[in-house]
Amino acid sequence: MKDLSHLSADEWDEVKNPRPDTSEFDQVVERALSRRGFLSGVIAFGSGAAVMGTGLLTSTSARAQDAASGQFAFEAIPIHTDHTVHVPDGYEWDILARWGDPLFSDAEPFDPSSGVTVASSDKVFGENTDGMERFTVDGRQLIAVNHEYANVDTNLPHKGENAFTADDVRILQNIQGVTVMEIEEGEDGWQIVVDSPYNRRIHHRTPMTIAGPAAGHDLMKTNDDPTGTTALGTLNNCGAGKTPWGTYLTCEENFNGYFGVADPEVEFSLSEGFARYGIGREGRYGYELHDARFDVSKEPNEPNRHGWIVEIDPADPDSTPVKRTALGRFKHENAAAVVAPSGQVVVYLGDDERGEYLYRYVSNGTYTEGGPTDGLLDDGKLYVARFDDDLTGEWVELTPEATGMDPAEILIHTRMAASAAGGTTMDRPEWVAVNPVAAQGYVALTNNKNRGIGKANAGGDEMVINGPNPREANNYGQIARWVPEGDDHTANRFAWDLYVMAGNPIVGQGDYAGSENVTEGNLFNSPDGMQFDTTGTLWIQTDGDDSNEGPFTGMGNNQMLAGDPASGEIRRFLTGPNGSEVTGLTWSDDLRTMFVGIQHPDAPFPDGEGSLPRSAIVTVRRTDGEVVG
Ligand code: FEO
Ligand code: CA
Ligand code: CA
Repeated sequence: MKDLSHLSADEWDEVKNPRPDTSEFDQVVERALSRRGFLSGVIAFGSGAAVMGTGLLTSTSARAQDAASGQFAFEAIPIHTDHTVHVPDGYEWDILARWGDPLFSDAEPFDPSSGVTVASSDKVFGENTDGMERFTVDGRQLIAVNHEYANVDTNLPHKGENAFTADDVRILQNIQGVTVMEIEEGEDGWQIVVDSPYNRRIHHRTPMTIAGPAAGHDLMKTNDDPTGTTALGTLNNCGAGKTPWGTYLTCEENFNGYFGVADPEVEFSLSEGFARYGIGREGRYGYELHDARFDVSKEPNEPNRHGWIVEIDPADPDSTPVKRTALGRFKHENAAAVVAPSGQVVVYLGDDERGEYLYRYVSNGTYTEGGPTDGLLDDGKLYVARFDDDLTGEWVELTPEATGMDPAEILIHTRMAASAAGGTTMDRPEWVAVNPVAAQGYVALTNNKNRGIGKANAGGDEMVINGPNPREANNYGQIARWVPEGDDHTANRFAWDLYVMAGNPIVGQGDYAGSENVTEGNLFNSPDGMQFDTTGTLWIQTDGDDSNEGPFTGMGNNQMLAGDPASGEIRRFLTGPNGSEVTGLTWSDDLRTMFVGIQHPDAPFPDGEGSLPRSAIVTVRRTDGEVVG
């Protein structure tokens, strides 16, 4: 049997829950490409291009780009295939926090060969850092950061082939979730402020309030919570977001992987909801063996209490996190919030699974700075995106009329509602990012179905260039973008195009080489994390095949690149260590430090030979102390 222990959360889910190879969006792009004939210049097509080019680069900052010249303020770096992090000349990197670093002084020191003890597992920085945001509270700097999943071989090195024990499960539950921590910059760079009153671990057992229209619905009730209003834990925290009022949004992605059936003899029927969300008999971490609420033969509604956007107030360490059901239930990647001209709050949301959808939430109420925020994430409308061949699209509201479902069911089984409403199935929407200086949204379609099987046939010419339909074999991913009508994110119509179609001009040609803004100097695969800085530069992070062989020749390790929305130029800024994914990005309040997440590195990052690998947040600063980018 294939060894699944090293797979990322996304990869594990792809193997366990394979989905159709192609999506409707792929076919829409195919038809749009052939109609418009922009095979080698996708970023410049359509009347939308002019719209999309306006209003950019108006900042006076010289961070990623020199506003006057439109040039990036750093030299591109080459690929790397080693066990460390690389940044451009004139920049330096350091470690802020690694899995196992103490948040509290009573945590035992990290053991390089055995990791963390059960007693200390909820007092230390968690595993597999992912989405993050930085907050300033009373002059102090806080980071809220996700810990997406666990690597059993790394986190439980003693386990081997043995069954999960109760202590194993407790460690795994404690090292995932979210960390809130205070950080400060000193002589030796950035450090965690150990024992800060803001430090907090939120994990798989932390009480959460369930709010919004699905709270209290029969499908949300369990034996332990007959009211359906209080859940324990937030699961598989992937990407993140920040509300206009300064709270953290953590996004529950592959929550299905934590559920199973402990007794192999027990009858278990796969409901439509379980099948659609990928819930089966066998969980990844043995939770169902030691924690009955994860046994779906006993608690069939427990999975309905996960797969939500969760709001956390980092400024109040005693606050209870809130699951915001109005934003729908699916495999949430991240949450990109923006305030529309009307004051309504718009949140764009991707469901990272092939054949699922892109969504938009629009609040009914309006936000004013310092004003009340109650209800802004509980009372609103949820829409699914439909993309048309003519490079326009529409947000289709998920109403009872459009779906045949009641309002709470629409939110609990959002995937079924979106199917009924006629959304366009997508190729694994990962992060969504909203440009702060132009009305544009971007979505990374990572489209990496070749992973796992791709390496076996990597390098085959037949796959690279000789197929009848080169694009069909292009599994490098793409980034689509849209401009809402009237530059208003509440408008239901939009124009769309592709910002980049990733590809490999070294080994391929035609579509396989990617769009014109992909060169031998910047090639990459599987765009995933995305974040704009305040100047309107799009930072792109990858989670792809780092074999550097066959179709992936010349791509090296996973990386972070800077993209100029106006010119289309993309430039490589950072490369991660072997085996890692680069995910999560935020900045210090003075913009002189960039915080970047390195997830699931292989040994020996960052501690060197003899240590378990440790996911980490790294800091990147300019050696001259200027703002970064
Ligand atoms: Fe957690 Fe889809 O990345
Ligand atoms: Ca991701
Ligand atoms: Ca991914």
